[in-house]
Amino acid sequence: DEAELHDRIADAKAALGDRVVVLGHFYQREEVVRHADYVGDSFQLAEAAKAHPEAEAIVFCGVHFMAETADLLSQREQAVILPNLAAGCSMADMASIDEVEECWEQLAEIYGALDEPDAEGLLPVIPVTYMNSSAAIKGFVGRNGGIVCTSSNARTVLEWAFARGRRVLFFPDQHLGRNTAKAMGVALDRMPMWNPRRPLGGNDEASVRDARVILWHGFCSVHRRFTVDQIERARAEHPGVRVIVHPECPMPVVDAADEAGSTEYIRRAIDGATEPSVFAVGTEINLVQRLAAQYPQHRIFCLDPVVCPCSTMYRIHPGYLAWVLDELRAGRTPNRIQVSDDVAVPARAALERMLAARP
Ligand code: 13P
Ligand code: SF4
Repeated sequence: DEAELHDRIADAKAALGDRVVVLGHFYQREEVVRHADYVGDSFQLAEAAKAHPEAEAIVFCGVHFMAETADLLSQREQAVILPNLAAGCSMADMASIDEVEECWEQLAEIYGALDEPDAEGLLPVIPVTYMNSSAAIKGFVGRNGGIVCTSSNARTVLEWAFARGRRVLFFPDQHLGRNTAKAMGVALDRMPMWNPRRPLGGNDEASVRDARVILWHGFCSVHRRFTVDQIERARAEHPGVRVIVHPECPMPVVDAADEAGSTEYIRRAIDGATEPSVFAVGTEINLVQRLAAQYPQHRIFCLDPVVCPCSTMYRIHPGYLAWVLDELRAGRTPNRIQVSDDVAVPARAALERMLAARP
């Protein structure tokens, strides 16, 4: 039962001491988060993975692409462990390496050689991938002069890319790409969307030629559920409510909200409120419920009245955490996530560019 699992995890952690670091994403359930040494957004957890070279193992309570990222940023001999290998991310799965390479070839037909800068030193297109993508995609980006972003640094990263290229190919999340570019003043008619199942992504050549940002056809099934209607209802029922949503929400939702930002941004916004306030939050329910419990002086609720957990984050059951810790204690390394060297070298370059990019 729950209490027994809790004790088993706590015992194993105590026995392992500094040999293991447990990282937990904000969307993890409470029974997992309480055992994490670090809880944070995907950017913070990437930095935490890098900051513990002494640990033999990093147990990543999150989804597959986050564990891959931890493997890329940690030491070679450190084992990164994903307690349940079935914890993926449906958005990350929406950009396969074959589709992205095919898109790249089509762009080369339109723009010409993609590795040749023009008279002003700008490349025709810079690939930018959201952290929520496979290591293979990060490797592609690294090989082609591109960079990774998270929801907390997307704007800084796009500025980095526009300093080096005429255009950006942004994948997999169309919403983060559109919301960020729009906030930077890019016109909507210069953001065609690329549907990998259609020739030229479903666009005509002129719109691709004219593009500032080409958006990939991906989305998060949790965040796309939020609607403007929900925001209007929250405002009607709670005058003065502060509406904060994640930038993976569709553009009309971000526009109707008071603020949009990463999971850490949302946490900080609530943490910084000095007066008792009402917050309607558009992100995953486990984070919203935890914030509501941590800040009882405020009224904090999820915009979507129907509970909307990220089903793959939820696959990290505490039973799996207990199991991997017991295995580590016995000297075994189950569910290790290891990115092969041919992918890891360029993928790491793309991540290091992100960590170095400053506003
Ligand atoms: P953060 O980068 O804000 O942690 O978000 C990750 C994620 O998967 C959001 O759906
Ligand atoms: Fe992926 Fe969405 Fe889950 Fe985040 S909330 S891990 S983007 S499916």
